[in-house]
Amino acid sequence: MTLDFASIRYGGDYNPEHWPVEKIDEDMELMRRAGVNLVSVGIFGWATAEPTQGAFDFSFYRMVLDRLHANGIGVCMATMTASPPPWLTHRHPEMLPQRVDGVTLSPGARQQYCPSSPVFRQAVGSFVTALAAELGDHPAIRLWHIHNEYGCHIKGCWCDVSAEAFRSWLHHRYGSIEELNRAWTTTFWSQGYSEFAEILPPRVAPTFPNNAQQLDFARFTSDELQDLMRVEVDILRRDTPTVPLTTNFAAVMPPLDLWKWTKDLDVVSFDNYPDPSDPESFRIAAMDYDIVRSFLPEQPWLLMEQAPSAVNWRVRNAPKPAGKMRASSWQAVAHGSDSVLFFQWRASPGGAEKFHSAMVGHTGPDSRVFREITALGNELAAHPEPTGLRTHSDTALLLDWDSWWAGELDSHPTADLKLRDQFLDWHSAISAAAVQTDAVHPAGDLSPYRLIIAPSLYLITQESADNLAGWVNDGGVLVLNYFSGVADERDRIHPGGAPGPLRELVGATVQEWWPLQQGEQLRVSLDGLSGTNSNANNNGADGTRTVGADVFTEDLVLHGAEVVGSYADGGLAGAPAVLRNKVGKGTVYYVSARLDRAGTTAVLQAAGADAGVQPLLPALPDGVEAVRRGDGDAALLFVINHTDESVTVPLPSAMTDLLADNASATDSVQLAGYGVAMLR
Ligand code: GLA
Repeated sequence: MTLDFASIRYGGDYNPEHWPVEKIDEDMELMRRAGVNLVSVGIFGWATAEPTQGAFDFSFYRMVLDRLHANGIGVCMATMTASPPPWLTHRHPEMLPQRVDGVTLSPGARQQYCPSSPVFRQAVGSFVTALAAELGDHPAIRLWHIHNEYGCHIKGCWCDVSAEAFRSWLHHRYGSIEELNRAWTTTFWSQGYSEFAEILPPRVAPTFPNNAQQLDFARFTSDELQDLMRVEVDILRRDTPTVPLTTNFAAVMPPLDLWKWTKDLDVVSFDNYPDPSDPESFRIAAMDYDIVRSFLPEQPWLLMEQAPSAVNWRVRNAPKPAGKMRASSWQAVAHGSDSVLFFQWRASPGGAEKFHSAMVGHTGPDSRVFREITALGNELAAHPEPTGLRTHSDTALLLDWDSWWAGELDSHPTADLKLRDQFLDWHSAISAAAVQTDAVHPAGDLSPYRLIIAPSLYLITQESADNLAGWVNDGGVLVLNYFSGVADERDRIHPGGAPGPLRELVGATVQEWWPLQQGEQLRVSLDGLSGTNSNANNNGADGTRTVGADVFTEDLVLHGAEVVGSYADGGLAGAPAVLRNKVGKGTVYYVSARLDRAGTTAVLQAAGADAGVQPLLPALPDGVEAVRRGDGDAALLFVINHTDESVTVPLPSAMTDLLADNASATDSVQLAGYGVAMLR
């Protein structure tokens, strides 16, 4: 099922239950003025629509939908299940979630449920069935907004109900207790189980719990939350088969394996709150948007929430200076979103989020934020050009949740190795080089790509290793980071040492991991790296091209790879640090240390040159992003200035900025602070 929007959808969460009903007249007038055409209704409405068990009353929401429809505003209709009402938890305290340390979480906030609770699932099912029957055919509804941010607060549940569900999940996965004992290496520390009934979730224990048990619990938690969503998916597919389904993801984060989750959905939607006080936060947004776009690449995604200005939940909550909200909104569109939606339409008068900014703040429409909101809504309405365009890239980052979970477990060589940091290292270098990127799973279809970058691929299956090897042999260029190919899907070390089944590709073996101490840095010389014109690496006193490294280094034994970078100091001084290996028609780069930006960029340039990857623009000023939306002749090139200084960006050929007042072709684009160009 596809969305077929005529222009970028604009609006946000609309919670009229916070206000006297008379406010709705003013809301309708202001929404029309601001160009709002899609709002999410009822996200936390369960207690309003079912104030006591079975007493369903959707009349308030029907009235709200009627009003929106009469004003030409579409609805992303929430299923309202993210905050169970007090009557439910009061009657069934056994549905409350339990933390890893045994503390039971109380009601009084939101997401107060155990994902496996049969009581909660039953209540969700009956509520969603009633909702679909009452409102499912309302003409205002464009899509269903299932729940809200699964896994945001409840990242797992360790209660007895979850323990029982975990045992069933394990039984299904392993079939017998003997097979589970083998998979979990339970001969270690006398952990052999004689029956499934003995197994518990990995709760707080005297010391490190079994790693394979923790990995399976992470898989189980993602699956269990997804099964909870499927309670709703199944009802909505059955009762409202023509309405597309989405759920808004809070982040690209560990609890949910989004490759699996997004298979249940028609549209991916994503909430994003980059910190306005961090000048580099636009890079995190760029990375997340590229990943999110890749889950269902044949369908635009939706930016379901962002803040009009400040949030309320950081320690210090900076507002967005004038122009920044517009720039970040176009950034999402540039990366493939068909919407710019906010949390929320009107600021709450009370409750935990009363200090969160809104499209209409407490002072009403006569405010800087509302003026910017109105200007952007009208600008988006006047520029439908990007709507529906899909983008394909020839570069991708390799992302696998199994590897992410397993790679960050305890009792490893270092606790400092974080996959999102590595993703950001690489994505930032790629984005600064104006190269367009996707994300792909290691067992996925790699054939569209020329260059693939794999931040630590700690866990790798033989299937994925074969997939990568086949792709490299056919001409792909692979960049593989340190701490890769270590373990298999049961978190057992691959025989013969890392990078395990990738050893032939890399042409080397890791004989020892040398993690660095906190703050420790050393230098790597990249003298053997060709194909780069890096301007950041000619800084050695002797004219050599040295870059910095921290966090992680490795002691390598070569069997075929060429050394293109060596450790210049530290315990591994003189030893190989960065390798290149020709395999079939392709090439593999192996990076054994966490390189700084200059080093990451130098490796990227060399690998990109081998792969024939072309940047979108020859040079980008710092803090400026170039993004292509669409392929071939339909493509639009966005240039976004995320700084408050004006910049001039040279273009490879004459282009026209469709957002400019008097659009005409130029060979460079001038952008004021937070300026945006949409070039054709
Ligand atoms: C999340 C939630 C919203 C709201 C915002 C506040 O994204 O989905 O309900 O709490 O955060 O930033």
